[in-house]
Amino acid sequence: MIPYGKHNATLPDALKVAWQIRFHSLTQGSKIAQFEEAVSKYVGAKYAVAVSSATAGLHIAMLALDLPQNSKVITSPISFVASSNSVLYAGHRPIFIDIDRDTLNLDPELVANEVSVNPEVRAMIPVHFAGLPCDMESLSKTARKYSLNIIEDAAHALGATYENGDKVGSCTYSDMTVLSFHPVKSITTGEGGMVTTNSIELYKKLLRLRSHGINKLDDQFENTILSKTAGVTNLWYYEMTELGFNYRLTEIQAVLGINQLARLDKFISKREDRASRYKHLITKNKMFAPAQNCDTRKSANHIYPLRMKFSSSNLSRNQLMHALKSKGVGTQVHYIPIPVQPFYQALGHEISEIPEAFSYYEEALTIPLFPGLKLRQQKFIIKLIDDLMK
Ligand SMILES: Cc1ncc(COP(=O)(O)O)c(C=O)c1O
Repeated sequence: MIPYGKHNATLPDALKVAWQIRFHSLTQGSKIAQFEEAVSKYVGAKYAVAVSSATAGLHIAMLALDLPQNSKVITSPISFVASSNSVLYAGHRPIFIDIDRDTLNLDPELVANEVSVNPEVRAMIPVHFAGLPCDMESLSKTARKYSLNIIEDAAHALGATYENGDKVGSCTYSDMTVLSFHPVKSITTGEGGMVTTNSIELYKKLLRLRSHGINKLDDQFENTILSKTAGVTNLWYYEMTELGFNYRLTEIQAVLGINQLARLDKFISKREDRASRYKHLITKNKMFAPAQNCDTRKSANHIYPLRMKFSSSNLSRNQLMHALKSKGVGTQVHYIPIPVQPFYQALGHEISEIPEAFSYYEEALTIPLFPGLKLRQQKFIIKLIDDLMK
């Protein structure tokens, strides 16, 4: 079976992990800091906080913004539910703005229109869908004009670059950026994520929220009597100052992450190579085409979504997916628009407000893309779809 996405793990990865388990700490040791430093250096951000998943990262990033309760936060309907769930976790209201047809990312013009008439909007979570960076220049211009915060959902986009050459994760245009290390992502730690920022205040808040709301770094203790003996800080003393979580990554995962990160550029260039092979292979058939078209920003090519003309085909999407599966080709649909989910329907979200997202959804099909994908497998996949989609 050729899956739609697949991680790359080597024997050295496994040996490093085994060595860590046998001889070193399993949690709260030095590897986390080492992994954080390596990621922040790679993306060009001042600080990075490793977390147990991107979902956890989005949650504490939302909380760290300290927005007034019930604020409105703009995000994309074409994303995994975690993007907007994080807004709800933090006691706010997500608003879904439609996507741009070419990039499948938030349409900056529609975002600007919404913000200009809706003063309750306090932040936005642009999602770099399939690894393609959003038009952050335009989005951040709107954010600055209306004093909005930005958290980039870069779960798909470690290794991608903006138009100006900065890396996604650098927070050039945002307060914080959230990365994911789930197995189908650019690099993996099994489960895991990272929040990057250039703000020391946000960094300290993220550290506290990741670990039960307990003070970290050089935070001052509030209780001056219990925290000290004869003016010297008590060795055992800690203080919980807000309600936090246990969203820590383990040392075992950090070791794997460090090893994976060293190969990230290689992974990205292999993904790029596979994506351009598809582009060349998909030329003749008018029934399908690459779903994203943007040459000005460098995608991390997390997945490879196609747009299929199912409405003019004698095969439905389900029939096509079953036919491909029977030939050993895994496919997926990224994503069912979030407002379509029953939970979001019950909150009153309207599908009619996101026509572009829904039209993309009706034609979407993700075909396999991962660093180890062979040219002959790609030819096989495209030939199959060519033959089936007449
Ligand atoms: C766009 C997006 N955001 C957030 C997440 C959540 O990531 P994680 O699985 O690391 O919690 C995902 C997961 O696939 C995602 O696709």
